[in-house]
Amino acid sequence: MKKKLKIGVLFGGKSAEHEISLLSARNVINALDKKKYEVIPIGISKEGKWILGSVSNYLLNSDNPKLIKLYDSKKEVALTIQSSGSLTDVKSKKKHGNVDVVFPVLHGPYGEDGSIQGLFKLAGIPFVGAGVLGSAVGMDKDVMKRLLTEAGIKNAKCIALKNGEKLTFEKAKKTLGLPMFVKPANLGSSVGINKIKSKKDWKKFLAEAFLYDSKILIEEAIVGRELECAVLGNDEPIASGIGEVVLNAEFYSYDAKYIDEDGAIIEIPAKNLSKNILQKLRETAVKAYKALECAGMGRVDMFLTKRREVYVNEINTIPGFTNISMYPKLWAQAGIPQTKLLDILINLAIDRFEKEKKLRKEK
Ligand SMILES: Nc1ncnc2c1ncn2[C@@H]1O[C@H](COP(=O)(O)OP(=O)(O)O)[C@@H](O)[C@H]1O
Ligand SMILES: [Mg+2]
Repeated sequence: MKKKLKIGVLFGGKSAEHEISLLSARNVINALDKKKYEVIPIGISKEGKWILGSVSNYLLNSDNPKLIKLYDSKKEVALTIQSSGSLTDVKSKKKHGNVDVVFPVLHGPYGEDGSIQGLFKLAGIPFVGAGVLGSAVGMDKDVMKRLLTEAGIKNAKCIALKNGEKLTFEKAKKTLGLPMFVKPANLGSSVGINKIKSKKDWKKFLAEAFLYDSKILIEEAIVGRELECAVLGNDEPIASGIGEVVLNAEFYSYDAKYIDEDGAIIEIPAKNLSKNILQKLRETAVKAYKALECAGMGRVDMFLTKRREVYVNEINTIPGFTNISMYPKLWAQAGIPQTKLLDILINLAIDRFEKEKKLRKEK
């Protein structure tokens, strides 16, 4: 019998999206084909400790999104460079076995921004999703937008501001109009994002965004439908159909995403899109994915205006995998159920790793 591949699923982490990651990981671990894979759950605590779990024990209160927590097995492990995936016990220094492929189910900084991808590269193991560069540019909304613009892809006009730099409300309003959106450059799940409607919001909302990042974006507000497309692949990525976030809130805020059950509905497929527009959305998604050096997977979020203009809002290089998440649902709708999707993602990770391994390292 063929040996089972050992898949290290990493989840939790130091970002503000820790809990969302736990919900995503539960789904990924449940859906991985246990006939093919030995699943090794590794939870990352909010302090950054790596805790080795087992498939039967890696989360507490896993059925309650409000109380879900990492299970602390007390087995703290580390991945070291050139280890080919072997996990070392932090205290005893003994080896805990190894992983063949890593699946980072982590959202936000430290997990989705290239930092952990750098560690996987140094450790010498294949990993699911974008590499160091694609992860980093996908996370930094300022750099992401510059690359989109260079590729000729429409995106909301913006001003990037570093902490300490001065910008008046009047000047921003003159360039971007009202309302405007303010957001940390590197984050997700709408944490730190606000809609500025008048001068009285200005200072407060800028200060809030600066709590999370030393660089923030102030953007013109795009009025339109929020449409999302799942992209899958390395060099020849394919696009799913289109899903829609139908909002019952001012914008897709953290509450509308995760707290308020009536805040938004996910519609798959999105209704009332002509063939032409569908095609344009899917093509734009793939174009953005390529321009942003993405690999493996990515969810491209767009706006469609009344004038049928397509704007790319952002890419998520590790999209959510929760029960209600768009990425796995879009593929399920396209005929790729989650278990199959995970197979494809693991194979894409191995393919890329093998290709990179073949590259000449010396002159
Ligand atoms: N320029 C914009 N115009 C209109 N709505 C926006 C704009 N920027 C953000 N939003 C709203 O805020 C939500 C979250 O913003 P987004 O940039 O996607 O951040 P995150 O990475 O946290 O999801 C969007 O889904 C949308 O509802
Ligand atoms: Mg978003």
